Amino acid sequence: MRWLSFPVKKKFNRNPVNIHEILDRAHQIAENGFAKTIDFTTFYDPSLPPVPGDQDLLIQVFLNLVKNASEAITDATREDENGGEITLTTAYRPGIRLSLSGEQAPQNLPLLVEITDNGPGIPQDLQEHLFEPFMTTKPHGSGLGLPLCAKIIADHGGMIDFESTPGQSVFRVLLPIASEKPETGA
Ligand SMILES: Nc1ncnc2c1ncn2[C@@H]1O[C@H](COP(=O)(O)OP(=O)(O)OP(=O)(O)O)[C@@H](O)[C@H]1O
Ligand SMILES: [Mg+2]
Repeated sequence: MRWLSFPVKKKFNRNPVNIHEILDRAHQIAENGFAKTIDFTTFYDPSLPPVPGDQDLLIQVFLNLVKNASEAITDATREDENGGEITLTTAYRPGIRLSLSGEQAPQNLPLLVEITDNGPGIPQDLQEHLFEPFMTTKPHGSGLGLPLCAKIIADHGGMIDFESTPGQSVFRVLLPIASEKPETGA
C-alpha cells in the first residue's frame, strides 16, 4: 500500500500576503531555472487586496502550476524550443460566492489567479482524474503536484480548477481576501 503524505508545514500562517509578490517569486524561480526558454507575460490588477495566507505554501502552489505549464510546453516543442508562452493574470471578481464542502455559509472568493500556457493541452481522458494522486504522464513525475496544490488552496479556503483545449491550458485559483471588517472592541 502506498501512503500519501504531503510535506505540508504543521504551522500554517494566515498573514495578509501580497499575491503579486508570490507570483513574482514563482516567476523568478522558474525563469532562472526550468523555464529559461519560455516567454512570460503578466497581467496584474495592482489594486488587489492581500490574501490571508501562508507565503511559502502559496509560492509552492504557483511554482507547481508554472512548472507543469513549462513542462507541457517544452515537452510539446522539444524540436523547437521557441514559442512557449506562460501568462500570469490576476483579477478581482467580487461576485463569486461558493459553498465549499464543510463550510456553512457560501464563501466569497473574489481573488482570481490564472496561469495560462500554450502547450498541447490536457488529454480528455486525463482531465477527469487530474487532481487524483499519482496521476502522471511524465517518466519521472510523482503525480502529486496538483493534489498538493488543491490541498494547499483548500486549506486557504479557496478552490482550483482548469480548462484545457489543444493548444491552451488555463489553471484558475480563487482565493478569499483578508477581512475588511473593522476591528471590534477597543
Ligand atoms: N498545464 C498543463 N498542460 C498539460 N498537461 C498538464 C498540465 N498540468 C498538468 N498536466 C498533466 O497533469 C499530470 C499531473 O500533474 P501533477 O503536477 O499532479 O504531476 P506531475 O507534474 O506529473 O508530477 P510532479 O508534479 O511530481 O513533477 C501531468 O503529468 C500532466 O500530464
Ligand atoms: Mg507537476
